[in-house]
Amino acid sequence: MITPKPARPPQFKEYPEMPKIKLPKPEFKGIRLEDALKKRRSIREYSKKPITLTELSQLLFSAQGVTGKMHGTLLRTAPSAGALYPFEIYVFVNNVETLKNGIYHYSVKDHSIVLINEGNFRNELLRASLEQEMVRDAGAVFILSAIFDRVRSKYGERGYRYTYMEAGNISQNIYLQATSLGLGSVVVGAFIDDHINKLIGIDGKKEAVIAIHPVGRP
Ligand SMILES: Cc1cc2nc3c(=O)[nH]c(=O)nc-3n(C[C@H](O)[C@H](O)[C@H](O)COP(=O)(O)O)c2cc1C
Repeated sequence: MITPKPARPPQFKEYPEMPKIKLPKPEFKGIRLEDALKKRRSIREYSKKPITLTELSQLLFSAQGVTGKMHGTLLRTAPSAGALYPFEIYVFVNNVETLKNGIYHYSVKDHSIVLINEGNFRNELLRASLEQEMVRDAGAVFILSAIFDRVRSKYGERGYRYTYMEAGNISQNIYLQATSLGLGSVVVGAFIDDHINKLIGIDGKKEAVIAIHPVGRP
């Protein structure tokens, strides 16, 4: 039986009631790609030194920053099936210079972040990720969350496959960018879905967390 294709949800999720924080321009010039490829490792131990807002900006840009426009669609650093971009990026800020701790949403269109829930979520993150200590110790924890119908509206059930493939593209961008910045990161696939989904206020069905990416200063 063929499941009917759903309607396409809006391309951009907005939190209009919250003030936007404009991020510094992502202008960092780092090591050569070939060196980043050789150097990249999963790093799980971080010092207590914060990461900077400039570094956070560069990491968000690497994940989903806008790099072009085609027929009115904003194209991004990571490829996406049909340029439908199912991912939303949230960041748990644990220790970033000049930012309050809390959960932020990345606004792709204007390279800004919005604080959606202020507070210290280190211990919640630790429990939700089966006591993997790097999510507690990281300066920032990136959450890759997918709105499946953005892709299913065109590709039907195969849209699920494309969404999971795209998570890998975004993850590798974060890994290589962290390496180039001299920071450490690891992709985390082992976590309690309901717990993380609840923390960022999504239903786990129409939108669900696929991967978690702590980044910290080694
Ligand atoms: C889909 C996926 C899920 C992963 N989940 C975890 C995880 O939950 N915890 C963890 O410590 N590492 C996790 N990793 C990282 C792998 O353990 C790591 O990539 C592997 O050991 C190879 O090491 P390297 O990344 O340093 O080359 C995951 C990697 C992938 C690709």
